[in-house]
Amino acid sequence: MGRLLFVALAVAIVSAQAFAQQDSAARGERDFRACAPCHSLKPDRNMTGPSLANLWGRKAGSLPSFDRYSDALKSSGIIWDDGALDAWLTDPERMVPDNEMPFKGIQDSRVRADLLAFLKEATKPGATPERTAENRMNGMGGMMGGMIGGGADPDLKNLDPARHVTGITHCRETYRVTTADGKIRHFWDRNLRLMTDSSERGPQRGAPAVVPAGMLGDRADVIFAAPEEISKAIEARC
Ligand code: HEC
Repeated sequence: MGRLLFVALAVAIVSAQAFAQQDSAARGERDFRACAPCHSLKPDRNMTGPSLANLWGRKAGSLPSFDRYSDALKSSGIIWDDGALDAWLTDPERMVPDNEMPFKGIQDSRVRADLLAFLKEATKPGATPERTAENRMNGMGGMMGGMIGGGADPDLKNLDPARHVTGITHCRETYRVTTADGKIRHFWDRNLRLMTDSSERGPQRGAPAVVPAGMLGDRADVIFAAPEEISKAIEARC
């Protein structure tokens, strides 16, 4: 009898712990929004920062597909584990002076614990990408894409006509951007950013894309496949 009670209690405690861990990871998934503009959880999808897929056990600054690590991080000798990540997220600059992650750190130890509980699962090899915060944000469509950029870009390889740029003219301080649906939009030239995405996610050569940027609807990015396309695509004409 006593033994049965003990087993029942043990089961109850274990499942309570499991639930508590799930709660923590669920909160951590929300906290990951602070990281998602710069970090993807998909292997080798690099943005401002390196992909965090397969992070545990990785040497700091060592992802071969990421070209923009600071020397400070590359030569830090850190191997990412629970303790190292907790210290990094508390105060990156203190742990690795002169690193280039523009993030001031998280003071609240519970928030860090939640975030690490989420990341530990979500960065495991073969973690289901459907469950990641990034995908959840992708589900929110172009709105988030425009606001936070990065991971939520539309498919630039298969552009819909409203995004496919067929011509750009520049006159005084105005760009006129023509798209494949025949529409012409005007932009103050400080509000149109010309950029490239040479990765496999970028547009096809010769088919630049226009993507809304900012929250007010007055800005956009035109994304080219390569830098040499930019000036060729823009005609000075009034
Ligand atoms: C504004 C962009 C930005 C934000 C926000 C950001 N990071 Fe970073 N992160 C970077 C950059 C850039 C690097 C590379 C730094 C370097 O090389 O010095 C980096 C590096 C890292 C690394 C080291 C990876 C490796 O391969 O060694 C980890 C881990 C990390 N970030 C986690 C996070 C987490 C977790 C968050 C959210 C709490 C976060 N970062 C927020 C840009 C960002």
